[in-house]
Amino acid sequence: MDMKQIRFAQLAVVLGAGLFMAACGGGESEGPVVPPPPAPAEYADKHMPAGWWTDAAKLEEGRKLFIGDTNPDVNCASCHGKDGKPVKAGARDFRKGDRMSLYSDSVWFWRISEGVPNTKMKAWKSKLSDEDRWKLVLFERNFGLAGKAWDNEKKSWVDAASVSAAPAAPAAAPAAPAPAGK
Ligand code: HEC
Repeated sequence: MDMKQIRFAQLAVVLGAGLFMAACGGGESEGPVVPPPPAPAEYADKHMPAGWWTDAAKLEEGRKLFIGDTNPDVNCASCHGKDGKPVKAGARDFRKGDRMSLYSDSVWFWRISEGVPNTKMKAWKSKLSDEDRWKLVLFERNFGLAGKAWDNEKKSWVDAASVSAAPAAPAAAPAAPAPAGK
């Protein structure tokens, strides 16, 4: 190599590194924001139980599940991070509200239930009841979509207070709570 070729090689290395960093968003490991696939038919009509979006107790139960406090075999935080900052490469970053706002509650629940094929995200439906999976949706959405609720009419995330204020159920005679346990 003569001097010119060496200069060119050096330049190529510098440019290459720059492109690489740009592609990685300067340290962000997730790719471009793309919508998730639609939930399959058996999940498309499943939604957060009425009243849960603003239920602080359910949220707290979701937190305990997420960090493995309720059941050490279920520890979402071991990959997704206690504070929502992923600790395992490739784990979804729930703090990214722009991406997560493209997930309906049904999609979110479907992914937790069935996992994502060919990734470290496995299916959890055999270890977690439907209710527990909804509590996890509730908690995980808090990282990037705090105070929001999925509005299935509008097909978007809206202020949770506006959803619970909607006359979904008459104020009187709340439904009997499901028996604890299962
Ligand atoms: C062993 C590591 C690991 C554990 C434990 C784990 N996840 Fe994940 N999770 C991942 C990875 C990796 C992805 C990204 C999959 C992909 O590429 O779409 C992911 C993605 C997700 C997604 C988004 C799926 C999508 O389509 O983008 C949700 C929701 C999710 N995880 C919830 C959970 C919940 C809830 C738990 C605990 C019950 C959990 N995860 C436990 C690794 C993990």
